[in-house]
Amino acid sequence: MISFNEPTYVEKGIGYITEAILKYQRLNGDGVFTARCTKWLEERFGSKVLLTTSCTHALEMASLLADIKPGDEVIMPAFTFVSTADAFVLRGAKIKFVDIRKDTLNIDETLIEEAITEKTKAIVPVHYAGVGCEMDTIMDIAKRHHLFVIEDAAQGMMSTYKDKYLGTIGDFGAYSFHETKNYTMGEGGLIFVNRDEYVHRAEIIREKGTNRAQYFRGEIDKYSWVDEGSSYLPSELNAAYLLPQLEIADEINNKRLHLWNLYYEELKDLEKSERIELPFIPKECQHNAHMFYIKTKDLEERTKLINYLDEHGVNAVFHYVPLHTSIAGRKYGQFIGEDRYTTKESERLVRLPMFFALEDDKVRYVAEQIKNFYQ
Ligand SMILES: Cc1ncc(COP(=O)(O)O)c(C=O)c1O
Repeated sequence: MISFNEPTYVEKGIGYITEAILKYQRLNGDGVFTARCTKWLEERFGSKVLLTTSCTHALEMASLLADIKPGDEVIMPAFTFVSTADAFVLRGAKIKFVDIRKDTLNIDETLIEEAITEKTKAIVPVHYAGVGCEMDTIMDIAKRHHLFVIEDAAQGMMSTYKDKYLGTIGDFGAYSFHETKNYTMGEGGLIFVNRDEYVHRAEIIREKGTNRAQYFRGEIDKYSWVDEGSSYLPSELNAAYLLPQLEIADEINNKRLHLWNLYYEELKDLEKSERIELPFIPKECQHNAHMFYIKTKDLEERTKLINYLDEHGVNAVFHYVPLHTSIAGRKYGQFIGEDRYTTKESERLVRLPMFFALEDDKVRYVAEQIKNFYQ
């Protein structure tokens, strides 16, 4: 069976984990490996980075930093993972879902303004499949209405929009290092704090509401409880697993792009004959090959294709069930405007196997099975 995902593994990670245990004898957060990961990430992406225990937690931190309060409204697409919404629901916010674009499956930027009310506090663009949202338009709307922009770039590491790294464009951004992502520490993530005036509070929120980070830097002689917060820092073991992947980040990215392009080449005739649709990448965007998906005619055809691939040794999967159709989504959120594409496009989408260790002949095999199915 060709699995849908295998977590990225770089052999050096074992050595680094051993070092964390035996050499540094330090497993809790903010040790040598967290510092090395952070340095790499800040140099590469040019913004303030704090490693976190997950993207979910990075979004929760952003929600605290944006001071989201009960009754506030937050705008986002319904075609996303639960955490995008939950991070704000935990602070008492009401979620306003807006339809997605048919081409990129990202939030339709032209529909955002009609969802804004005097209670709106933030816009949360989700860069689906590591392909950037129309950020110039979104930033302009946010500026005119004095709203925070919190980028859910869970899938977007290494991707750019107009040469700016996803996650570094809004006020705050979040990456995921979950095992299904391009770079992983099992469970983990980061928050970009793109506005200097929020860095101090972000460090405090991440360290249980204490000024421990300042204490470790020798800026104060004891640390204490100064604000609200939680425990959002990952163990050194996780950081040690991530570091060697960062050291070969371009190699990982290029390999994934190669596999993505191979899928595209192999399947483009099926798109030409209008049997399937392939992903669309706007010219402003450089993507990171986080996923390769195809779109079938409808839900029925998708179910048949997934079953056919399963019978032929290929594990292909669908993705998000739109949040506004879920129990919690109905309770905490509301869809603004017409659901033209969110439900329909989500029902057509099939994700194909895509991971660093995947081989060309496997990609060709998967493509061959899809062609057989449509014959
Ligand atoms: C768009 C999006 N946001 C947030 C998350 C949550 O990431 P994590 O598992 O690191 O909390 C995911 C996970 O897949 C995601 O796809």
